[in-house]
Amino acid sequence: MTSTPYLTGHYTPAVDEITATGLTVEGSLPPELSGRLIRNSHNPKPGVTPTHWFKGSGLTASTAGTHVIEHGGRLLALCEANVPYELTRDLDTVGAYDFGGRLRSAMTAHPKTDPVTGELHFFGSSPFPPYLRYYVADPKGTITRSVEVPGATASLKHDFALTRHHVVFVEGTVAFDPGEHSGIPYAWNDAQPARIGVMPRSADGAARMRWFPIEPGSMLHAANAYEDDRGRIVLEGPTVDREGFQLSWNWWVGAPGRGTEPNTRSYTRRWVIDLASGSVNEEIIDDLAVEFPTLNEDFLGAEHRYQYAVSFPDQNGLGGYGVVKYDRATGARSIHEAGDARLPSEAVFVPAAGGTREDDGYLLTVVSDLKQDASQLLVLDASGLDRIATVHLPRRVTAGIHGSWIPDTAFGDDVH
Ligand SMILES: [Fe+2]
Repeated sequence: MTSTPYLTGHYTPAVDEITATGLTVEGSLPPELSGRLIRNSHNPKPGVTPTHWFKGSGLTASTAGTHVIEHGGRLLALCEANVPYELTRDLDTVGAYDFGGRLRSAMTAHPKTDPVTGELHFFGSSPFPPYLRYYVADPKGTITRSVEVPGATASLKHDFALTRHHVVFVEGTVAFDPGEHSGIPYAWNDAQPARIGVMPRSADGAARMRWFPIEPGSMLHAANAYEDDRGRIVLEGPTVDREGFQLSWNWWVGAPGRGTEPNTRSYTRRWVIDLASGSVNEEIIDDLAVEFPTLNEDFLGAEHRYQYAVSFPDQNGLGGYGVVKYDRATGARSIHEAGDARLPSEAVFVPAAGGTREDDGYLLTVVSDLKQDASQLLVLDASGLDRIATVHLPRRVTAGIHGSWIPDTAFGDDVH
């Protein structure tokens, strides 16, 4: 029995692949849920103990174990240190995919689909110059823009944000460190300035790039960003301070002094960047330990009212696993508690057919249930977080990272 945290408990790797049909469903599945929920995570092969959780084999391909998306009819498994791996819609590996040679760097695991234009915006970062390159692919998947982002450094960049008129990069207090031997060469570094970079999306954007100093910290995931009615950039996301980062990092590498979970101490922050005055207002808007922020992606880049996330028990065991909903208009926070030893995955929002309100839709989450040694797909009503349906899965699905809902319509000829 190993004590490696990412090989035990909820994170125990699956040892086989199965195809299961005729699953037991409690409640009723909404008819518009016709498609694929594809989850990715790290799932080291039996007998393999990677030096870092992120070095473990991916559930879908290769070491691309962070996320999986669809764009232009292609399924792409993603990790930020490499190019994507293309998959068939039945999850067979096609191979490395570099956008026909136009991808000239690694690719972030967090590309953003602009809900207005259908373009895919993304970046590639590197610990060596050029540190940051920004790309746009058209709705069919052809890269139409590729630009080096000026002023970037070797700060770790896992995610970014997109508004209607700007691209927003965040450089936190975690930077390239060749002395870090876990295989992921980054570490907290007090000498690394924390900054937010704002680049207009216009053709001359790189020349108008600006960097704004912020308080030390590290943001793994952006919840959303938008321009408010005064033209200020508003950015929100869960962040960690030095202690929170170290608790997470030590879990990721299996070192002493680690958190009981990958995330046990985080703070959701809001930055308001006034482009006219150059000032940045920063505040903590919630101190619940959450990660995996999601939203109705029709509101990506626009002012959104509702935000979703997954909550974790804190380092003292207080709180619990759950799916969290924030109402930014009222300040209310509600939680669908998953229950003891039941860890929900990232809650993916799927709009309801004919929905009119931002939260008319469903949250799909796969719960790892240790007591039953099984998993269930929960379909929650995004408006009240009530459970609509439970699909019982015959295996416990390895807990982990990101995934996407891909409706059958995404593949065009595959509608059934
Ligand atoms: Fe991520």
